[in-house]
Amino acid sequence: MNPLIRKALNKPYRLSPEELRELLSLEDTEELFRAAYEVKLRHTGKGVSLRGLIELGNYCCKDCYYCGIRKSNFRVGRYRLSEDDVVRMAQWAYEQEYGSVVLQSGELESEKNTVFIERILRRIHTFAGENLGITLCFGEQTEEVYRRWLEAGAHRYLLRIETSSPELYAKLHPANHSFERRKECLRTLKRLGYQTGSGVMCGLPGQTLEDLAHDIIFFREVDLDMIGMGPYLPHHDTPLGQGIELTSEYAAHQLKLGLKMIAVTRLYLHDVNIAATTALQALDDRGREQGLLAGANVIMPNVTDTEYRRSYQLYENKPCLDENSAKCRNCLHWRVLSIGEEINWGKRGDPPHFRKGNSK
Ligand code: 5AD
Ligand code: FES
Repeated sequence: MNPLIRKALNKPYRLSPEELRELLSLEDTEELFRAAYEVKLRHTGKGVSLRGLIELGNYCCKDCYYCGIRKSNFRVGRYRLSEDDVVRMAQWAYEQEYGSVVLQSGELESEKNTVFIERILRRIHTFAGENLGITLCFGEQTEEVYRRWLEAGAHRYLLRIETSSPELYAKLHPANHSFERRKECLRTLKRLGYQTGSGVMCGLPGQTLEDLAHDIIFFREVDLDMIGMGPYLPHHDTPLGQGIELTSEYAAHQLKLGLKMIAVTRLYLHDVNIAATTALQALDDRGREQGLLAGANVIMPNVTDTEYRRSYQLYENKPCLDENSAKCRNCLHWRVLSIGEEINWGKRGDPPHFRKGNSK
């Protein structure tokens, strides 16, 4: 066995940045993925947790150079779901035993938006109580807003750092997007008691394997409970995506890198939740299944009504655009069984790292 894999297998946090980089550069990944899957089994058991994803709206005040719903993309039609629609979709996910939902939208900072989310959270709480996990994914907010949403019933928050390299961050965002504020938000979320998730995009133009190795160290420094990351995918209506063609070689490279990041992150952190994100499936029909076999334990089926899915394309090739939520449920069930795994129906699937109250 590769000595680095052996070193990482039994204890978390053992590898140096250089050793993490070396694992990320492996060409033959079979042993790496098998070891990461073994660590996943040890900490989260057999089973995959579901998060029903509701894409609330695509209005966004940010202008990230890679993202298809950035505010300067005038080619995308903007929408916002009604409060009743969001509650209905969450109730469907609850009744279908998804165990948890993720509420996500473009970034908006306003009292109106804060109250809108609070009302939704309170209504979900009336039928689901504590039995439905609720993750929010609404970007950077003030501490007060995070606290109000926590009090209204949310208990997980996902805020990707996108890259832990300040230099690369500055190349991917306009000057008024602050890396420091984003980091501060993550610390605030953690301090307030949220189960806190973050992650990065892998295979960004200009990103090195050293950068990715440091991203994994960063996950530990922030003491994250959940990791959501995926390969970068070009979107032609964005500054970063222009000029990048999604050829089959490019897709294969991005997929492999995304899978290696999952595996090495699992081998380093051990007891966190890691999502096999939809971006993996945009690159390969069986991308998410491969993510599960490389150490991920969470999957996020879309439960947004089909008519809105086309307007929420952060990248090209997004899967499940024409499918409805019931079809995605069956499809995913079958896909998970096909790799010898099973779905933890009706379970919230809290990250073991958080349950242990682990801190450094
Ligand atoms: N490719 C891959 N992921 C993307 N995201 C945004 N744009 C892209 C893209 N072009 C990711 C970001 C963001 C999450 C919601 O989607 O990491 O945090
Ligand atoms: Fe949507 Fe397979 S998950 S069709």
